[in-house]
Amino acid sequence: MNSIATGDFPYIHGFSEDEQSRLMRQARMFESTLFSHIDYGAATRLLEVGCGVGAQTEILLRRFPELHVTGIDRSPAQLAAAERNLAAKVWCEARYALRQADAADLPFNDRSFDAAYLCWVLEHMPSPARVLSEVRRVLSPGAVIYVTEVLNSSFFLDPYSPNLLRYWMAFNDHQYDSGGDPFIGAKLGNLLLAGGYRDVQTEVKNVHLDNRQPGRRKQMIEFWQEVLLSAAEQLMASGKTDVATVDGMRDELQAVRNDPNAVFFFAFVQARATVY
Ligand SMILES: C[S@@+](CC[C@H](N)C(=O)[O-])C[C@H]1O[C@@H](n2cnc3c(N)ncnc32)[C@H](O)[C@@H]1O
Repeated sequence: MNSIATGDFPYIHGFSEDEQSRLMRQARMFESTLFSHIDYGAATRLLEVGCGVGAQTEILLRRFPELHVTGIDRSPAQLAAAERNLAAKVWCEARYALRQADAADLPFNDRSFDAAYLCWVLEHMPSPARVLSEVRRVLSPGAVIYVTEVLNSSFFLDPYSPNLLRYWMAFNDHQYDSGGDPFIGAKLGNLLLAGGYRDVQTEVKNVHLDNRQPGRRKQMIEFWQEVLLSAAEQLMASGKTDVATVDGMRDELQAVRNDPNAVFFFAFVQARATVY
């Protein structure tokens, strides 16, 4: 199933069931790092932009029992999965609403929410500044926003894997050409300031796995392989990579998986700001 079959818009990872299940695992794998400093203690009406399959909606509802979360996403397939995932959690009942919408044109009145959450979404959007300005419009004074985004240039694997790095650059090129920005994490401070937010703070977070956590390292390398391969068909179809590079990358990933001294490193940026 791809974006054409589902009637969805083009999107680098696609909307297959495998991809939807990957988003659920991804949210749990990154939860402790992502949420270590997030505090929505004073909020009750949160807008989650690009809620996907509801993986992080569930975490928000679990961690902040006073919250009602309104999740928007542009994809009907993601929203249908979010509805199924959240309906299966009885304790989420009546605490969330899901709505199809474009983040650049939100169907809400000014000052409708007192908190916002965006995670791994601005990187896919052609006008992140417009999205942040729309989000600010629907937030009330005093509201807090957390935005977490990738900085794909930070990715490193040891042993050295040249096919993988070539493929990774093709992946990033493709995301750029599709209107996204795989390096947007480093720009969050500027974007939030330009969008009229105040008290802008950023924190560089990282996942650095070596012999100190072999189990988690193994899990992360396997997960990352799925992320990489989720775009392989699109990248080959657009001529940005070829079968030899993809095969070379598979071999290198296997070597990394089997190496007793493997290292995985990836950094991303989390920003926090308020609305006056
Ligand atoms: C990588 S997923 C992240 C989902 C969720 N935040 C998570 O962490 O599990 C990105 C999501 O952004 C959505 N998206 C992309 N462009 C959008 C737009 N312009 N408006 C609303 N949602 C959008 C996609 O449909 C997808 O569900």
